[in-house]
Amino acid sequence: MTAEVTATGAFDQLRVELGERGYDILVGPGLIERAGALMSPLLRRRQAVIVTDENVARHYLAPLRESLVEHGIAQHAVVLPPGEGTKDLAHFGRLVDDILACGIERGTMLVALGGGVVGDIAGFAAATLLRGIDFVQIPTTLLAQVDSSVGGKTALDTRFGKNLIGAFYQPRLVLADTASLATLPRREVRAGYGEIVKYGLMRDADFFGWLEAKGRALCDLERGALTRAVMVSCRMKAVIVAADEREEGDRALLNFGHTFAHALETETGFGDRLLHGEAVALGMVLAFDFAVRLGLASGQDSHRVRQHVAAAGLPTELAAIGLSGSAADRLLLHMGKDKKVRDGAITLILPRRIGDVFVMRDAPVEQLRGFLAEAA
Ligand SMILES: NC(=O)c1ccc[n+]([C@@H]2O[C@H](COP(=O)([O-])OP(=O)(O)OC[C@H]3O[C@@H](n4cnc5c(N)ncnc54)[C@H](O)[C@@H]3O)[C@@H](O)[C@H]2O)c1
Ligand SMILES: [Zn+2]
Repeated sequence: MTAEVTATGAFDQLRVELGERGYDILVGPGLIERAGALMSPLLRRRQAVIVTDENVARHYLAPLRESLVEHGIAQHAVVLPPGEGTKDLAHFGRLVDDILACGIERGTMLVALGGGVVGDIAGFAAATLLRGIDFVQIPTTLLAQVDSSVGGKTALDTRFGKNLIGAFYQPRLVLADTASLATLPRREVRAGYGEIVKYGLMRDADFFGWLEAKGRALCDLERGALTRAVMVSCRMKAVIVAADEREEGDRALLNFGHTFAHALETETGFGDRLLHGEAVALGMVLAFDFAVRLGLASGQDSHRVRQHVAAAGLPTELAAIGLSGSAADRLLLHMGKDKKVRDGAITLILPRRIGDVFVMRDAPVEQLRGFLAEAA
């Protein structure tokens, strides 16, 4: 039930304890170049199909291929266009055709090389091709390294909403190559940082305190700070996932800030105007403010959160993302359509204090409406 941590010198390592579906997460620089060696013991057949996107392929496809070839692993690659628009059924249909055209068998290993978009679509392909083939996650965005590559959620978007098609399907290995973040646009680094802050706020006040001191170094990709933050985040997620793989209980706490965030993303069109991690950062600020309004959390904590989110260059105000008071009703409507809705009631994850959040099943809708109207 626990995640174990061992340091090997070259990289840090922890295990997601899920019995026979358990797997290791390795964190450190240079893992892409060593992928062939690290994957080898897991292969049932010496064949791998790499799924990636154009941006990532430019930097990391060649070194990954070389590493596989060096270890006698036959490899093919499918390169997708970048962006959230790729995570749909049309691209999925073409992707599975392209993968099948490589002549795969049950023992073939799929390798997801990229951010959360690649991880989600490739993971879903692995879950469904030949009723399930093994896959390895090589996350190359900070968000994917601390969140989407761990835990086994795979998904596609539909016109009815995001992530509405998917499967719980765990990878066999996660290689979080921290050196690959060097080419990631700064804004994407900050967005990933939003998810790291989430881990501190949801259940580790000391980690949040550490982020207040080290957040800048981390966003500058200082090696020690970066590795520690990725490890702490993955460890927390691994422990939660091991205890509640299919989100029937505590795993929902990982959605802290996300009901607000999904409404904001829906309102802004899931695009460049507001990145997911930015929406989560603003969502957490709103959750703290709303908790203060309900008398559940202290103004002091809420102030501290806002300060830190702002210092990280992430949005703290609805106005900053171009939303005004007139958006309040629409945001509420979007919140009512969130996947976490049960019986028409809005479920929110709200804080009691920094490091302690809980699930509120039936959030007071009218108070929420008033709060949003004032916030915007
Ligand atoms: N499965 C889960 O548990 C889970 C959790 C959170 C988010 N997600 C999903 O993850 C997706 C968002 O993931 P994301 O933020 O990683 O976005 P992304 O995959 O779109 O990557 C962001 C951008 O960075 C580029 N990029 C990626 N790595 C790079 C690198 N090393 N150097 C240069 N450019 C690089 C990509 O091409 C893309 O343009 C969403 O679809 C979201 O729903 C899934
Ligand atoms: Zn998220």
